Order: sequence, then structure tokens, then C-alpha cells
Amino acid sequence: MSGEGITNVEFKLLRDFIEQHCGICLGEEKAYLIETRLAGLMVENGCPDFGTFYRLAKSDTSPSLREKIIDAMTTNETLWFRDTHPFTILQEHLLPPLAAEILEGRRFRIRIWSAACSTGQEPYSIGMVIHEFCRTHPGIRPSHFEIVASDISPSALFLAKMGRFDENALRRGLPDDLRSRYFRQEGTVATINPEVKELVTFRKFNLQDPLDVLGHFDIVFCRYVAIYFADDFKKHIYSGIARLLAPNGHLFVSAVESLRGINDEFIPLTQSGGLYYQCNASEGGSR
Ligand SMILES: C[S@@+](CC[C@H](N)C(=O)[O-])C[C@H]1O[C@@H](n2cnc3c(N)ncnc32)[C@H](O)[C@@H]1O
Repeated sequence: MSGEGITNVEFKLLRDFIEQHCGICLGEEKAYLIETRLAGLMVENGCPDFGTFYRLAKSDTSPSLREKIIDAMTTNETLWFRDTHPFTILQEHLLPPLAAEILEGRRFRIRIWSAACSTGQEPYSIGMVIHEFCRTHPGIRPSHFEIVASDISPSALFLAKMGRFDENALRRGLPDDLRSRYFRQEGTVATINPEVKELVTFRKFNLQDPLDVLGHFDIVFCRYVAIYFADDFKKHIYSGIARLLAPNGHLFVSAVESLRGINDEFIPLTQSGGLYYQCNASEGGSR
């Protein structure tokens, strides 16, 4: 092992490899991220330096090393009810008209996509909102809803599917009343109740792949993931989302993201102090 840090050439090779396989775009100031996150895999694979490691990854015909590299490079930071307003808007403004359509026999179900679900806090927060909504809306049942939750990271998805969270994770944004209603405490971990878990279908999905395999949705949460991507890839994803959203369907991005200058198929709306988007059916969202 050389004991030297990553060289500029090695950084550029690995940076391009990572962007090609998952869209994550790293500026030169992020060379340390490649060093710190890939050093373990590099050593494990018997490589003396990042150049050898890159060549191994590139020549690896099985997807396994590539998958491990992507898994290591993803940032899975997440928390319950992140930014608060998307979940308030969902419960108070988006679900009531959709539920009314169910009661009037004009629709059978409501489909929601959590497009980068990480370890599950986002889709399970949506699931709790749905259960809370059903408690106060007679005739509307959890079985009227489907949440599809996807992510590229196998390890994040594994944790999400288990639905088990330690105290550190639980402390971040989960209100006490929802914790006691929707979790079962077992020692130092708490497990999400089956009635919330069964609303969510988890699947491994790379946002670089064609989105239409996922079907159509009424609401999409695509939050804190496009921030890692180049503008062209952001444009591609948002226009893909416009195509799979129902006419006038809704999109949530994070509190630090905006579609301004990136996509004009959505109308920005403000409620409960938060920005979200409605697909403009007269633009790309019609189908
Ligand atoms: C910071 S987390 C955001 C989690 C959640 N949406 C939230 O707002 O708390 C970003 C997630 O995006 C996922 N990700 C990154 N690139 C992806 C890609 N190309 N396709 C699908 N998921 C991706 C990562 O694995 C990670 O779990």
C-alpha cells in the first residue's frame, strides 16, 4: 500500500465512474469523501492504491464491487417527518380531495412514491400520516393506499425493510404520541408496527433507470437526493416524474431544493409555510 492519498487523476477516474453508475456528482473538494468512503473496500480488495482499485472496479464484470462502491458513496442521512411541512400538507391538503374521490367511487386507491427512501424514515412517516388520516375519515382505509419506497443503496434498503430503529434514529423527529402508537419497543430498539409496514413496498431502484416501470403516482417525494446530481440529470428526473404523475399530481422536493430554472412542467404552490409542486397537466404531466 502506498500510504499516499488519492491523486488528482485517480480522483477524476473514480468520480466519473461513480457519476456514470448512480448520478452522484462530486466536485474536487469532495476527493476526501472518495478516500474515506472507499478506503475500506480498496484494502479489502487487496489494492495498493486508488488507481488499482479503479481498474479492478472497471474490469469487474459482476455488479458486486460496483454495487458496494455505490453503497459506500451514498449519503443516507434522513429523519422522521423531515422538514415537517410536506407531511402537514399531505395530511391537510392533498389527502382530503383524493379521499373524497374514493368515497364518491371515482378512484380506488392513492399511490405515493418515496423516490430515495434511505433507511425508511420518509415512507414510514408517510405511512403514519395515512393511518392518522384514516382514524378521522370514516370510509377511508389504509388498504386504499400504496407507498412505493425505492433507493439505490442495498444496505439502506435492508435497514428500511427491517423497520427497526435505535434510540438515536428514533430521537430525530418522531413525536412521542406517534412513537407509542406505531412502534413496538424491544430492548434498545423499536420496530415499526405491521399495519404501517405493510403499506410500504420497498424496491431497489436506480433513478438513472426508466421511471415508468414503477407505474403512475398521485404524489411523489423526491427529497434530498437530486442535490447530489448534475443539473442535466436533475432535469431528466423531474421530467420523468412529470410523466408518471397523475394530471395535477404533486411533487415534494426538500427545503433546500427548487425546480426553478430546471423544470417548467410543475406549478410551485405554498401551504403551511412550505413549497411543493403541482404537475401542470397542460404541460408535460398530461397523459
Ligand atoms: C440523503 S438521503 C435522503 C432520504 C430521504 N429522501 C430524506 O429526505 O430524508 C439520499 C438517498 O438517495 C439515495 N440515492 C442516491 N443516488 C441514487 C440513485 N441514483 N437512485 C436512487 N437512489 C439514490 C441514497 O442511497 C440515499 O439513501
